[in-house]
Amino acid sequence: SIKILETIPSFRSWRQQFIKQDKQVAFVPTMGSLHEGHLNLVKQASEHCPIVVVSIFVNPAQFGPNEDLDKYPRTLSHDLELLRSLNCVDSVFLPKVKDIYPSGIPLEIEKQKGTFIEVKGISHQLEGTTRPLFFRGVSTVVAKLFNIVQPNHTFFGQKDAQQCAVIRALISDLHFPIEMHVGATKREHNGLAMSSRNQYLTPEMRNYATALYNALTTIKNGLGKGERNREILLSKGYEIIEEATKTVKEKNLGFELKLDYLSVADPTTLEELQEIEEGKGAIISGALFVGTTRIIDNLLFNCT
Ligand code: PAJ
Repeated sequence: SIKILETIPSFRSWRQQFIKQDKQVAFVPTMGSLHEGHLNLVKQASEHCPIVVVSIFVNPAQFGPNEDLDKYPRTLSHDLELLRSLNCVDSVFLPKVKDIYPSGIPLEIEKQKGTFIEVKGISHQLEGTTRPLFFRGVSTVVAKLFNIVQPNHTFFGQKDAQQCAVIRALISDLHFPIEMHVGATKREHNGLAMSSRNQYLTPEMRNYATALYNALTTIKNGLGKGERNREILLSKGYEIIEEATKTVKEKNLGFELKLDYLSVADPTTLEELQEIEEGKGAIISGALFVGTTRIIDNLLFNCT
């Protein structure tokens, strides 16, 4: 059965036995509202290590003042059922906000106290453009969780490509003795990347939300066919989004599609690529508003 641990001391004392037994621990941090993308990371974790820890913690520090912290889906008993059904999870760590942030965590940055982690250079672009404190919140909570869980291996999803780059740098820069693994993006049958936030979308919205995946796929196919001009590649993506935006408007569906960005960037520096050199990889990513819900997705070209 799964050990449910809600305090830092109880987790630490449970963790002790595996140090003595010299058993490796794999860790999958989540914000809950679990879906097949999360579960796949947990399964991968169990293939790597005898002990698997999952955390569920909706981290206030990574939400902006006008974001969805209060309405972020919380489905704890269903999450625990899903994790039990996998038959490979040893512990679920469910810390409290006041324990993770002993100095408090007011949303207004001027009022915040305590310690925060910033991974400079790869946190400000792409997702960081419209969410300037997002990766500071992610890096801070992941560093805290690493210090508590003390995993040997950790598993993150490709769905959040920039988060993977930030955590990779965090592990390296702060000398965490942890090996990072990245699991492939799990998608619905229509291509839409799975996300806890898809719960905000009606079936019709989910259908039109695939425009983002289709745009990214078109850009990737362009690269595959040898097109190397950034503007030509992006214009094919913009066309797909514009087409879907127009249809949604004409059909009067009661919501709007609005593109935030499409990007073709260097997979390590995350800087926008002007020309895609032969043999070099690229990360093709984007964000799209479907009504008030913002979805993100990415595809890799010639890189891992
Ligand atoms: P959350 O959105 O719950 O995601 C937890 C993990 O699941 C992340 O590594 C994410 O990339 C992965 N994931 C989400 N959707 C996926 C999909 N469709 N396919 C594959 N993997 C997917 O990401 C976070 O939480 C938080 O930022 C966290 C790292 C827990 C820090 O608070």
